[in-house]
Amino acid sequence: MTDKEKSGSKKLWGGRFAEGTAASVETFTASIHYDSRLYKYDIAGSRAHAVMLAGQGILSPDELQAIDTGLAEIGREIEAGTFQFKSELEDIHMNIEKALIDRIGPAGAKLHSGRSRNDQIALDFKMYLRDECIRIIELLDHINRAFVALAREYLGRTMPGYTHLQRAQPVQIAHHMLAYYEMFARDRFRMVDCRKRMNLSPLGSAALAGTGLPIDREQVAEILDFDGVTANSMDSAGDRDFAIEFTAGCTMIQLHLSRLSEELVLWSSQEFSFVDISDKFCTGSSIMPQKKNPDIPELIRGKSGRVVGSLTALLVLVKGLPLTYNRDLQEDKEPVFDAVDTVSSSLAIMAELLANLSFKTERMKEATATGFITATDLADYLVLKDIPFREAHGIVGRAVAFCLVKGCELEDLSLEELSRFSEVIGEDVFKVLSVEGSVNSRIATGGTSLLRVKEAVGEAEKKLGIV
Ligand code: ARG
Repeated sequence: MTDKEKSGSKKLWGGRFAEGTAASVETFTASIHYDSRLYKYDIAGSRAHAVMLAGQGILSPDELQAIDTGLAEIGREIEAGTFQFKSELEDIHMNIEKALIDRIGPAGAKLHSGRSRNDQIALDFKMYLRDECIRIIELLDHINRAFVALAREYLGRTMPGYTHLQRAQPVQIAHHMLAYYEMFARDRFRMVDCRKRMNLSPLGSAALAGTGLPIDREQVAEILDFDGVTANSMDSAGDRDFAIEFTAGCTMIQLHLSRLSEELVLWSSQEFSFVDISDKFCTGSSIMPQKKNPDIPELIRGKSGRVVGSLTALLVLVKGLPLTYNRDLQEDKEPVFDAVDTVSSSLAIMAELLANLSFKTERMKEATATGFITATDLADYLVLKDIPFREAHGIVGRAVAFCLVKGCELEDLSLEELSRFSEVIGEDVFKVLSVEGSVNSRIATGGTSLLRVKEAVGEAEKKLGIV
């Protein structure tokens, strides 16, 4: 047997080749070990394409029937794990098409009429990602239910709010939880939006210029639940914006998870001692018997590097590519798959951890009582007594300096001591210096008062369908 017969003859595109492909090239160019993940979409796309080809008279009803039965059978075998993927057939498209031809003969060989692997991969990838958008949206709703449950549970309890990781102003624990709710709600919106934009079928763009065969792109799009078809075949063959947008959305989610993780690591330290992460979500040390380590948030924080890396890989991949399809684009799938897996598993486990999290409210309250945390409230008090804010800022700064020397908090000062800094300070100042007074004075929209936070919890519950 000649080389061509051994290898070249096996290729669906082998016609113009005199020699078979080098084994090293087959290994290097193969993507089947990861793009087999797309099999369901490849089969669904082919079935829809075949229905359309039959409608256009390119396939006979019998041929359509044979293709449909053959593809369904291949799908079942892949699902059952009995299908033999072959790396010499490169990718998911050719593995399935070759298996179909081997099973049903000439009808199978007609399936690729009017399409190319270039529009086929764009189709499969979009169908895969639009499903992943929905799965991620569900996971985002799931984690947001955990934040809202914590907000409801700890409503009215206070903690220090931080800027520069220095105690800044007292806030409600619930307000802090709802900050994360907002962040993940934006992520949800991004996923919805990105799904909507990607939901146009590229099939029928063929290699790059469209096809001369009488195809009906709209029919295929409708069968596959797309909102319509893409407008330009050249754009469609080389477009990966949808994958980049999706991965950018994943990156934002993982960054949000990472910031939360950082807080959980800090809060579970003995130095903060604000939360107790359930034993089920911690691990011990192999050498230090006393240790209980917050490995889950640490790993999630660490995994953000992978997701940022995936996005970077895609950005660099596309930069500088001429239109339209280039084989470089095969490198788009692994980073996206890794981002999907990382973000999904991180979201799921973080939601579980949050459902098992308890706040040490006494300790948090104690931390709120120190650090001159109501200093801004004193400045605002002076403003309401007609002192310009900049002057008020200076007055309070001097009072804080005095406290630092004396070793006490602002609210420990007597009225006589306080009024030395400004004669407008009266008895009513003590209400302002209390943590409760400070928190509940913040009634403007978005503020941390009980009034506003209660409303915000109710709104979030409504949006998530909890009440
Ligand atoms: N496996 C290829 C990819 O992922 C499919 C498209 C191949 N097209 C081609 N002309 N070689 O990009």
